[in-house]
Amino acid sequence: RPRVLSGAQPTADSYHLGNYFGAFKQWVALQDEFEAFYFIPDLHAITVEYDPAQLRERTYIAAAQLLAAGVDPSRSALFVQSHVPEHAQLAWILGGITGFGEASRMTQFKDKSAKNGSDSASVGLFTYPILMAADILIYQADRVPVGEDQRQHVELTRNLAQRFNHRFGETFVVPEAHIVKATAKIYDLQDPTAKMSKSSLSPNGVVSLLDSRKQVTKKIRSAVTDSGSEITWDPTGKPGIANLLSIYSALTDQPIDSIVKQYEGQQYGHLKVALADLVADFVESFGNRTRELLDDRGELDRILAQGALQAREVASKTLELVYERSGFVRGI
Ligand code: TYM
Repeated sequence: RPRVLSGAQPTADSYHLGNYFGAFKQWVALQDEFEAFYFIPDLHAITVEYDPAQLRERTYIAAAQLLAAGVDPSRSALFVQSHVPEHAQLAWILGGITGFGEASRMTQFKDKSAKNGSDSASVGLFTYPILMAADILIYQADRVPVGEDQRQHVELTRNLAQRFNHRFGETFVVPEAHIVKATAKIYDLQDPTAKMSKSSLSPNGVVSLLDSRKQVTKKIRSAVTDSGSEITWDPTGKPGIANLLSIYSALTDQPIDSIVKQYEGQQYGHLKVALADLVADFVESFGNRTRELLDDRGELDRILAQGALQAREVASKTLELVYERSGFVRGI
């Protein structure tokens, strides 16, 4: 079976709606057709300032949320990145074939380092995409389901795989990004031209998957919409309404056209009230399931340990091959 791999950082107290629609929904859908590896990149999370106790807690929350989303440990390996040391080991090797200029062109690094001034950005933040390439290549993954903001990192991964193969002989599968256009970029509810993000300026712009009904309802109802009142699909002219329609469509699996038709002649407010209810239902049951899973840490530990075991079996084989090809002395 072909392989699929993806990860989502535990850098907030909860994942958000953008993570769910852009990534997790796809992860879950791909588990049947693919041999799946899904993980929590805790090593990536330490490239920005963080608190150790908080990181540990967030890692458990992340695991519970991925399970709540439908990642099924009987079909997929669910694990924590730092439990599989081969990721970091391969990242070092890939660092040797990554150009400084090439890494400097990563737009996410440029954005993130610009936010706090580049002097306060860590070297880890700079080399972060190389670790991400290692995450993917160590499993010889064919597909990488992500949102639009990760496309450039997957492109770098492809380049590094091809470069290594060219220099040292066929070693890596060259992976493909799996990006579902309709949900590849869910926008901030308060600024529908910016992506919904953990680091959003306005907390009301982001629906967290641990929000209460009340919070969700308030956020959706107060979403910034556009001038005019007619509900039509116009992502450039009406980005606010388009974002709400995208979320509506992703949540109900109804095509945008039919939603637009359903709301013909109605006001923005009607759409918001209905969507607020739908999202509140979804987030409420997602949250309940997450809290239930979080109540049994022993079970979470067991699932993650099992996942790490499955992951290491594959990762150690790739690393051995890479060391061999790279000219390291082996077999003593
Ligand atoms: P992260 O943790 O920022 O986000 C996790 C996933 O959610 C997607 N996403 C979105 N999709 C649609 N709309 C949004 N507003 C939105 N915000 C986030 C992201 O594209 C991502 O798929 N570098 C990665 C984590 C990572 C990884 C990997 C991913 C580490 N190693 C290997 C894939 C393969 C990241 O920071 O995603």
